[in-house]
Amino acid sequence: MKLLLLGSGGREHAMAWKIAQSPKVEKLYIAPGNAGTASVGENIDIKATDFAALKEFALNNQVDMIVVGPEDPLVKGIYNFFQGNEDTKHIAIIGPTQEGATLEGSKEFAKEFMQRHNIPTARYKSVNNDNLQEGLDFLASLEAPYVLKADGLCAGKGVLILPTLEEAQKELKEMLGGMFGDASATVVIEEFLSGIECSVFVLSDGENYKVLPVAKDYKRIGEGDKGLNTGGMGSVTPVPFADEVFMEKVRTRIIEPTVNGLKADGILYKGFIFLGLIRVNGEPMVIEYNVRMGDPETESVMLRIKSDLVELFEGVAAGNLDTKTLEMDTRTAACVMLVSGGYPEAYDKGFVISGLDEAATTDSIVFHAGTKFDAEGQVVTDGGRVIAISSYGETKEEALAKSYKVAEMIQFEKKNYRRDIGFDL
Ligand code: AMP
Ligand code: GLY
Repeated sequence: MKLLLLGSGGREHAMAWKIAQSPKVEKLYIAPGNAGTASVGENIDIKATDFAALKEFALNNQVDMIVVGPEDPLVKGIYNFFQGNEDTKHIAIIGPTQEGATLEGSKEFAKEFMQRHNIPTARYKSVNNDNLQEGLDFLASLEAPYVLKADGLCAGKGVLILPTLEEAQKELKEMLGGMFGDASATVVIEEFLSGIECSVFVLSDGENYKVLPVAKDYKRIGEGDKGLNTGGMGSVTPVPFADEVFMEKVRTRIIEPTVNGLKADGILYKGFIFLGLIRVNGEPMVIEYNVRMGDPETESVMLRIKSDLVELFEGVAAGNLDTKTLEMDTRTAACVMLVSGGYPEAYDKGFVISGLDEAATTDSIVFHAGTKFDAEGQVVTDGGRVIAISSYGETKEEALAKSYKVAEMIQFEKKNYRRDIGFDL
């Protein structure tokens, strides 16, 4: 089959790497891709949200399936755009409908969904300029710290955690006043939950589901989980505390009510469900839903999927995922992210990346995140997160030691990375 993968980050390189191993794939395109995806497929210079151009390309090149990496095209309705039109409905879309994508696109929608289906999550109140006073009162009824979430998509920046009531009330007013534009016209105020987090990935055909390897990501820029939030500095799978007892609770209290709830609400969902979970006194609770895979979790999770991922995608499209097998590698996989100096604040781009050939002689797998080819064909930095180095190990220590060795081989000006990935597991 001919498959088109959308996106341009480390997540997409890792997915492309796995998809390209499938004997079912005769041609893999990535739009727009990066310097790394070019080594496992053909990059196409089309933005993941340019539906008209994607349609023209898909029809001209007999694309059979589109796998959507990032949330943007999903929230903008790529599923409905292709599946809702006679001339494109033969193209399978791996990703939810626009309504399904609202689980990530609106925090208020997600909270209402969880409340309706009795899915454990933090207590909350949804506020806009018309009921500001209720929001201020709700904040006053909570204990510090205070959690404020912009309702809409904010590229991972829409969650504020404030230490005092005064700051929380001030920030609430600023958010409603347009701090994140329209995305914060509604704000979800949440009770603060204390515990350890993990990322659970579910692939659903709308009826049946498979649970992918559980991972933990490291979001803060600084060691010991200090400093600003980033897109993610590394990941490890499996997660020891997500043991059988915990995962049984996740299945019965969260995954099944989610899949069945979507169905009961008449929302067609054929794609990945990313559950951001927190363990509070041993019990799983939902921090957030995303409607795509996590980045950098994917860069370790893909290493642990032994089965043909494209066969699973076929099951999603056909609605017979229950007839497919998902076999997992029992080893540990870990990923370390090399980032641009300055990230997640201002940083420079365009530095030449060296050492990639030497890295390729190791048994680690190097995924490109923010890279591109310059005019001379050299691989240069092109984003905050630059390169993800993933490795297998019998233990997390072994996997991480391999990734850290390669992290020293790969050089670019102002390279930075965390040396303590996995420290809390
Ligand atoms: P998000 O941008 O939605 O991924 O949220 C960013 C981070 O904020 C999460 O990964 C959590 O660490 C934290 N967070 C969000 N909601 C809560 C909550 N109710 N209690 C504690 N921490 C939270
Ligand atoms: N690693 C978290 C995310 O992809 O949102």
